[in-house]
Formats: sequence, C-alpha cells, structure tokens
Amino acid sequence: MKRLEGKVALITGTGGGQGRAAALRFAREGATVVGCDLDQKSQDETCKLMQSEGLQMYGSAPVDLGDVDQAKAWVEDAAKKFARIDILYNNASATRFGPIGEFSLEDWHFVIRNELDLVFYTTRYAWQYLALQGGTIINIASTAAWCGSQLTGKAAHSAAKGAVVSFTRQLAVEGAPVGIRAMSISPGFIKTPGTAPFIENPEIRRKLLDGVLLDRPGESEEVAALAAFIASGEATYMTGSDVVIDGGLLAT
Ligand SMILES: NC(=O)c1ccc[n+]([C@@H]2O[C@H](COP(=O)([O-])OP(=O)(O)OC[C@H]3O[C@@H](n4cnc5c(N)ncnc54)[C@H](O)[C@@H]3O)[C@@H](O)[C@H]2O)c1
Repeated sequence: MKRLEGKVALITGTGGGQGRAAALRFAREGATVVGCDLDQKSQDETCKLMQSEGLQMYGSAPVDLGDVDQAKAWVEDAAKKFARIDILYNNASATRFGPIGEFSLEDWHFVIRNELDLVFYTTRYAWQYLALQGGTIINIASTAAWCGSQLTGKAAHSAAKGAVVSFTRQLAVEGAPVGIRAMSISPGFIKTPGTAPFIENPEIRRKLLDGVLLDRPGESEEVAALAAFIASGEATYMTGSDVVIDGGLLAT
C-alpha cells in the first residue's frame, strides 16, 4: 500500500524546484495532488513531467496566492472537486534580499505578502475541510528562521520564515482538538533551478556551504521525502514542531 493512498493533497508552488519534487513524490505515494503556481509555464512543465510517469496533477496556474481571493478560490475549487482536503503543503514563496539599512518598505511588504500572507490565506480557507476528517498541514520555513547569515541581507526573509514556524506551532494547538496536525520544515541550502546559478559559481557555492557538515546542497527530493513521511500514517504523533533538513548547518 502506498503511504498517501486516498489522500487529497494541496501543494503550493508546484512549478518550482521543491514543489515539483513534492508533487511527484506525493502522487507516487498515491495522493491526489492539487497544485498551483504563479508561473504557468513551470506549472505546465510539472504536469508534463508527471504525465510522463503516468501521474496526474490537478489545479491551476497562474494563481497568485498573495491575493486572498485567488488563494480562497484555489482551495475551494479543490474542496468542491474532491469533496475533501487531507493535506495542505504550503511550499510556495518569493523573497527579496538586501541590507536592512537600504531595504525599502515596498520590498518588506513584498516579502511578507509572498512568504507569510499566502500561508495564512490557504490555511484559513482549507482549515474547515481539514477539520472534517482530520488532516495535516506542512509549512515550508527555512534555516533563516533559526540563524542569521553573513552572506546576504535576509532580515525580511528571516522574519517571515520565523513567523511561519511560530504560526505553525499555534496551528498545532488549535488543530489538535479537531484532528489537524501542523508541522513546519526548515530546509537549509537546497539545489533548485533558482539556486543553480549560485551552486555553479565556486565562490558563492563555497560561502553557502560554509558550515554545512555534509558539504553539499540538499536535493528537492530529500525535502519532499521528509514531507511525505510527515504527511503519512507513520508520523501521526508529530505535531507542532519544526524539522530542520540542512546537512548539519545548525549543528555547529
Ligand atoms: N532553495 C532553497 O535553498 C531553500 C532553502 C530554505 C527554504 N526554502 C523554501 O522552500 C520553498 C520552495 O522553494 P524552492 O527552493 O523550490 O524555490 P522556487 O523558486 O523554485 O519555487 C517557489 C515557487 O513558488 C511560486 N510562487 C512564488 N510566489 C507565489 C505566489 N504568490 N503564488 C503562487 N506561487 C508562487 C514560484 O513561482 C515558484 O515556482 C520556499 O518556501 C522557500 O522559501 C528554499
């Protein structure tokens, strides 16, 4: 028996590196996957990739989850089509970096909208469906929630991801009486199409890997594997915590 057989999983950002890996992994585990992305082209590529494996992804693109009406419509369309939601996997985000002394208000609001607001919106509208039969929320945070970085100006990103972790903890408290588990995952440096240029630049790669005990970036599939475990019946005693997946970065 596949681990997610019979589950309806809503995954955000399925056009991106980790979202694509998650869509593939969850579908291989038997879940009905409903994805969405702001970027239609990359979302279409994920659909094609899944079809080449005999898998299917429902959902739509472009969907801007930072817009409350679009986020609500995406969730409610899925609930209507499949009559249930078992898993909400908040993966999508977009960020901006810059030194705090030069960071514009516009950049700040962009980061909060696209890293935090969208997590609230999908959660807010999926909650009633998750509560019907008990469900799992997985929110992607970051090691930026747990440590600072010398490399780039990450204040807004760190604030948003720290909030994702604490938001998730509170969801666990409010979810327990209705059978909802809520977990966050904090990836370290993960190889995706977006981070590929940094990985290819030896100097930046070296800096990004500084302190990473396993001396390599993580793979999107490694994060997706962790998420599949958290969503499965093997992790039913896990709620309210954050799981770091960072090659040992935070260990030193
Ligand atoms: N790659 C890393 O090193 C790393 C490290 C720590 C945490 N993360 C987190 O992992 C998650 C996945 O990131 P990724 O590395 O796969 O990046 P990615 O850029 O490849 O994927 C993110 C996807 O989200 C989509 N998206 C962004 N804003 C959206 C919006 N408003 N509405 C709908 N879709 C939107 C993008 O179009 C993109 O396809 C993010 O939450 C990110 O912050 C990534």
